Amino acid sequence: MSLVKMIDMPKLGDDRGQLVALEENKEVPFNIKRVYYMYGAQPDIARGFHAHKELDQVAICVAGKCKVILDDGINKNVVLLADPAKGVSIPPMIWHEMHDFSENCVLLVLASELYDEDDYIRNYEDFLGKVNS
Ligand code: TYD
Repeated sequence: MSLVKMIDMPKLGDDRGQLVALEENKEVPFNIKRVYYMYGAQPDIARGFHAHKELDQVAICVAGKCKVILDDGINKNVVLLADPAKGVSIPPMIWHEMHDFSENCVLLVLASELYDEDDYIRNYEDFLGKVNS
């Protein structure tokens, strides 16, 4: 079973270049309460290593590229994000890790909830315990 759900963002480009517009509950399948982005990442340093209990997210590499590992405790998939018009869904209870960042990578994340540290599961054994219970 693949955990990879890609979302094709509609391109509103013309001969001046591309434009992508994202609206909540349309291209992004939830109310967007928070937007964050990562840049200046080190190519050899991975990030993430957590799951969320409730948070729904869509990640888009708006510049450069990186890889995202998605893991439900049984299945594990790797997706390459390298297209500013394609997002990957990161639903709740999916362990995720981001790695192989290009130097110019800007990874934009749209999130369904405000930041809440209590929503994080940062220990993989705890994650496995929860998904298998
Ligand atoms: P974290 O989610 O742990 O990033 P990563 O898993 O990619 O390493 O976030 C890093 C730090 O930033 C952590 O101290 C929490 C803080 N943070 C916020 O305050 N608000 C946010 O919206 C996010 C995503 C992180």
